[in-house]
Amino acid sequence: MTDRQQERVALVTGANRGLGREIARQLAERGHHVLMGARTRDSGEQAAQHLRDLGCSAAAVKLDVTDGRTIRDAVSTAIKEHGTIDVLVNNAGIALDAPDHRPSDPQFETVRTSLDTNLFGAWECVRAVLPSMRTQGYGRIVNLSSNMASLTLTEDDESPAYRISKAALNMLTVLLAAEVRGEGILVNAASPGYTHTDMSPNATLTVERGADTPVWLATLPPDGPSGGYFYERNQLPW
Ligand SMILES: NC(=O)c1ccc[n+]([C@@H]2O[C@H](COP(=O)([O-])OP(=O)(O)OC[C@H]3O[C@@H](n4cnc5c(N)ncnc54)[C@H](OP(=O)(O)O)[C@@H]3O)[C@@H](O)[C@H]2O)c1
Repeated sequence: MTDRQQERVALVTGANRGLGREIARQLAERGHHVLMGARTRDSGEQAAQHLRDLGCSAAAVKLDVTDGRTIRDAVSTAIKEHGTIDVLVNNAGIALDAPDHRPSDPQFETVRTSLDTNLFGAWECVRAVLPSMRTQGYGRIVNLSSNMASLTLTEDDESPAYRISKAALNMLTVLLAAEVRGEGILVNAASPGYTHTDMSPNATLTVERGADTPVWLATLPPDGPSGGYFYERNQLPW
């Protein structure tokens, strides 16, 4: 085994808390060097130090997915230091809909802000990492989606900004997977399930469980699926 195969480099956005921090921990536990994206240096450094205290290989990177400059800086520094980024987990996300937000009375500011982070933020990160993945012929891209993004499963009229942003992210997943087919790069969408974090304080699913599917997709073997949408390692209906 070469050094490159021994220690994959994974970039996780929004890794300072919640699911992102746990995804980073599980990837580090599986032998990855994790770059923990965080909007503030302090919150990223605290999270990375926590993993290092557990004996893991982790570093903080300042990365706001709505600020392309921070994405490009983080990725180019990582590539200079490590040669490439093997895994990108687009975890950073926001859920901003007010309980009374209905599609018939749209709050477009909320919709645009949601798209900026949940869709364009992830897309910009992909644009930054893909060239080096293509050069090395290896990559795993995981987009944190949601059961709420499923067109098939959606029956209510709530949270239009969040649902639309994550449904768009699902489509991006399919399109990217098609573009890179045969290049050693697998692109999938993961729903963690309704997980207890700051975003979903009433949920009962643990972050350990919620992180399982994203981590599974981030560590797929070469013959693993691409262009899929998974929850608890099972395909979800689009
Ligand atoms: N929890 C659930 O039930 C659930 C269910 C389905 C899908 N998801 C998805 O899973 C992902 C993680 O959710 P979570 O529950 O862990 O949420 P969370 O506890 O609210 O954490 C969100 C993370 O994203 C970061 N973030 C937000 N905007 C960002 C930006 N512009 N740039 C960089 N980082 C940004 C936050 O950083 P700051 O600390 O700086 O705010 C934080 O680290 C999200 O994409 C979410 O939509 C969650």
